Amino acid sequence: MFKRNRRLRETKYIRDLVRETVLTPSDFIFPIFVVEGENIKEEISSMPGNYHFSLDRLHEIIQEVEGACVRGVILFGLPDHKDEVGCGAYDKNGIIQRAVKKIRTISKDLVIITDVCMCEYTSHGHCGILDGTKVDNDKSLKYIAEIALSHAEAGADIVAPSDMMDGHVAAIRELLDSNGYKDVLIMAYSAKYSSAFYGPFREAANSTPQFGDRKSYQMDPANIREAMREIDADIEEGADIIMVKPALSYLDVVRWARDRHDVPVAAYSVSGEFAMVKAAAKMGFIDEKAIAMEMHLSMKRAGADMIITYYAINLCKWLKE
Ligand code: PBG
Repeated sequence: MFKRNRRLRETKYIRDLVRETVLTPSDFIFPIFVVEGENIKEEISSMPGNYHFSLDRLHEIIQEVEGACVRGVILFGLPDHKDEVGCGAYDKNGIIQRAVKKIRTISKDLVIITDVCMCEYTSHGHCGILDGTKVDNDKSLKYIAEIALSHAEAGADIVAPSDMMDGHVAAIRELLDSNGYKDVLIMAYSAKYSSAFYGPFREAANSTPQFGDRKSYQMDPANIREAMREIDADIEEGADIIMVKPALSYLDVVRWARDRHDVPVAAYSVSGEFAMVKAAAKMGFIDEKAIAMEMHLSMKRAGADMIITYYAINLCKWLKE
């Protein structure tokens, strides 16, 4: 005697009935890069189909996002000017702050998430304030919290700190609450690894560190127990949503996070994951749609409640077909 597991796979309708995981348009968040200037819609060479948008053309992508029924966007800004302390990041009239206000006039419902970090705004390209060549954790906290507050004031629904400083969620929560932004959510990039998969993003966001690397604050790809300590700390400090980033090579981390906590878990399928699929598809080596669907399904199966992905619009369109 043996088990006839294939019975459950015999017909499409049976397979439909027993399917454990499904993707829906409400799973996805789309990243958008905004730049200073006018009349700009410029393709990012390493991320085909993704563009730099100036504010006056932002409505084009927002309408596309809404048309596809994507529920949220996460914004990254490229300022005109960088300095030691990244003051463009918390400028009330900065690129992100204006982008948030603009999007709110275009869409009432879209969830607006902002990436809270300094690397696009600092002349040295690190995610915090320097003391010599070291990133000073505690000095950075004040700035990180100010950035988050300026995003909340502009109308962001969710602030997403990606700096990997210790104590950042507590610092942000405290400043938001004391300024009356008790309802603004925090999505913490809790388990953010020091990853080569960010390569295309750094080109897109012009945020490559000018010296050294990010290994003293982003996590070692070898560690998963440490990721749980990062996640525990962020939840204790008040994170509403935790994130694992990158996604595809870190599905075990997503699963551990899901099994350990009840809070929503986000996975960020990063620029390098997208670029690899695009490049292989262009070469004719793989079926882009099938690969993209399978990748994102595996992220959801691993336990992600939501996925930040450059494929968000495409996936929504494919799911409607
Ligand atoms: C900012 C930030 C990065 C990404 C998201 N926020 C880059 C980095 O940490 O170097 C990467 C996103 C991607 O690769 O798609 N700190």
